[in-house]
Amino acid sequence: MDRRLDPFRRRPLENCQKCPNRDEREQNLDRGICNLNKSVFDGLPLRCVGEWANEKIHYLVRYFDIFTTGMHKKWGGNLRYIEICSGPGRCSTRDGYEQDGTALAILNHKAVAYIQSAIFIDNNQESVDALNQRIKKMNVTDKAIAFIGDYKDGDSILSAMNQRPCDGLTLCFVDPTSCDIPFSTIEAISSCTGKVDFIVSFFSNLDFRRNGADAALNPEFEVARLKYETFAGCKGFFERPDVKTAAEHRKHDDLLRLFMHAYRESLSRIGKIAQDTVSIREYYHLLFATGHSRGLDFWKKAKSTDITGQKCLPGLE
Ligand SMILES: C[S@@+](CC[C@H](N)C(=O)[O-])C[C@H]1O[C@@H](n2cnc3c(N)ncnc32)[C@H](O)[C@@H]1O
Repeated sequence: MDRRLDPFRRRPLENCQKCPNRDEREQNLDRGICNLNKSVFDGLPLRCVGEWANEKIHYLVRYFDIFTTGMHKKWGGNLRYIEICSGPGRCSTRDGYEQDGTALAILNHKAVAYIQSAIFIDNNQESVDALNQRIKKMNVTDKAIAFIGDYKDGDSILSAMNQRPCDGLTLCFVDPTSCDIPFSTIEAISSCTGKVDFIVSFFSNLDFRRNGADAALNPEFEVARLKYETFAGCKGFFERPDVKTAAEHRKHDDLLRLFMHAYRESLSRIGKIAQDTVSIREYYHLLFATGHSRGLDFWKKAKSTDITGQKCLPGLE
């Protein structure tokens, strides 16, 4: 089918249970992977996702297309894509379909011709094995590979990246499901490679907004407090008077703004001074960060059209 009509190769998944609630879904999942259904395409595992996953893929792939098309000649083809938290490459959706996840959406895009290599990292062996089998079936093992790696252990991420070193330009997509990737890992990725731009799934509303005030005020939330400070690379964040005041008044929006600002300051500290976000419904943000204004121009172009094809006015995304 025409890629424009079916960009993520969506197909009905006849036996999907369409689990009606979280509890039922959890029973049918093993670390996010559906244990009832395999792909009708290739018989390999599927990761169960919410319907908003397409919006994330839309912005990621649009940016990937614009960035690689704009930069491959300038960098003599020395471009690399890295994805931390890649999953198995294909997903089942809660409405009873299967489709490409981010990894296969990238590898199936025509702009993949412009990159030298693609590295996918996940801490789930089943996902890594499935993605490597998919890469093999697609005949792109010369370009792409999946590795096991744990983002809480920066060295394991660096050792995977060093299997395919690159002194050119890297786009690194970081896609965890909560605010728990240590900023030290982002810093390590940034310093071990040539130039790198980041897109980070920032779990503003699904994670921090729920627990931020308690992390600031309630001693029982010590673990969450440490997690958030480690994520944002800002030790002492919860001691700040402005943070405490926002938490005491339960001003969750203000608290979230301060937290995101602290994260963005950490990115600036490592040279990623040009930043911007796009929201994925009311759930979370994709946060883009680069050291160069050209990258930011590409990003603004990528986010200027939403998944329905509507133009988004700046500041109204
Ligand atoms: C949101 S899913 C990624 C989905 C994928 N990017 C996509 O959209 O198709 C998050 C992934 O993070 C992986 N993960 C969780 N904790 C991790 C860790 N500490 N290190 C590396 N990967 C981790 C999970 O196994 C899961 O596949």
